[in-house]
Amino acid sequence: MSEALHDAFGRPLASLRVSVTDRCNMRCRYCMPEDEYVWLPRESILTFEEIARLAQVFAGLGVHKVRLTGGEPLLRQDLATLVEMITRVGGLTDLALTTNGLLLAKQAAELRRAGLRRVTVSLDTLRPQRMLAFAKSARHADLLGGIAAARAAGFERLKLNTVVIRGFNDDELADLVEFARAHDAEVRFIEYMDVGGATRWSMDQVVSQREILDALSRAYGRIEPLQEKGPSRAPAERFRLPDGTTFGVIASVTAPFCRTCDRSRLTADGAWLLCLYSEHGVDLREPLRCGATNEALAALIAATWRARSDRGAEERLGLPQRGALYQLDRLRADPHREMHTRGG
Ligand code: GTP
Ligand code: 5AD
Ligand code: SF4
Repeated sequence: MSEALHDAFGRPLASLRVSVTDRCNMRCRYCMPEDEYVWLPRESILTFEEIARLAQVFAGLGVHKVRLTGGEPLLRQDLATLVEMITRVGGLTDLALTTNGLLLAKQAAELRRAGLRRVTVSLDTLRPQRMLAFAKSARHADLLGGIAAARAAGFERLKLNTVVIRGFNDDELADLVEFARAHDAEVRFIEYMDVGGATRWSMDQVVSQREILDALSRAYGRIEPLQEKGPSRAPAERFRLPDGTTFGVIASVTAPFCRTCDRSRLTADGAWLLCLYSEHGVDLREPLRCGATNEALAALIAATWRARSDRGAEERLGLPQRGALYQLDRLRADPHREMHTRGG
């Protein structure tokens, strides 16, 4: 691996989130609340060979963590084959997947065999009726089956992601901690973010890290922050309950982690985004399909990363009147602005 590449704020290029499809089989209110969407054209979607080639180029520039996301990544046909191809890329130390879990029961064992190391499953509620109202999905049993299958398949550390929204699931925090403990998993409570796609976002629905910790300490007693080894670049801060159970909080709204953010994103059609909040991406599909060499792609990526000065979440923090990032007309004008396109 070459010398690590740093951006304008000294942040290394280290983690790449690869969205393999913009399609999803759920409609979570914080991500896809609308009835209709504009999808990326089929012919624009990168092939597995194209994704693996880009992963190789990124790895050569210092990326060592790859996370597959969507939309819902398990909707991409034959994902295990892509996993297997990415495991052959030299220099990667971590390959993970973020999924809504509905199709995981069918695929967990095969993905593990293909070389996937870690899985994060979204679990916003333990109540099927709530999931129906909130994510327009009646498949809560499939989600629970997916979590069980992930456990059985032997992934390294199973994480559960819960986006906490006031008046929806903020009364389930302790239940979710119990569920995670019983399933040998770690739950991470995520502040509801004003990302593209979250057209119904408002600050009063955000349950802050402070409130989450207060509610859990009322239920469990004293909560201790965990000291992580080395400089932490993960978005979650981790905590421990008196009985030793750990959980995380991702305070992207009230305490953003832009200062240490080493991640970038590749959409399913090859747009490379330097920040969750970026207005535009760099098109890597065009040069890829026009015969650019790996060296030329690497030069483009390196020059772009060196100039990176994005800190979207911190900038949002300073806004006097914070509302949804985009209204519907601007999202429809460019689906790349959607969270389900850039990968949650
Ligand atoms: P690991 O650290 O590898 O376990 O991954 P992760 O915690 O990044 O994975 P995951 O996909 O579960 O991301 C957790 C949540 O953090 C996402 O669902 C988002 O809500 C939030 N998040 C992810 N990426 C970003 C980012 O670039 N900026 C901000 N502000 N929040 C992010
Ligand atoms: N706020 C916070 N997290 C979000 N995600 C999607 N939309 C939002 C949002 N508005 C994240 C969730 C989900 C992952 C796929 O994307 O954590 O688990
Ligand atoms: Fe929900 Fe993820 Fe689908 Fe968005 S992409 S609707 S967060 S499951």
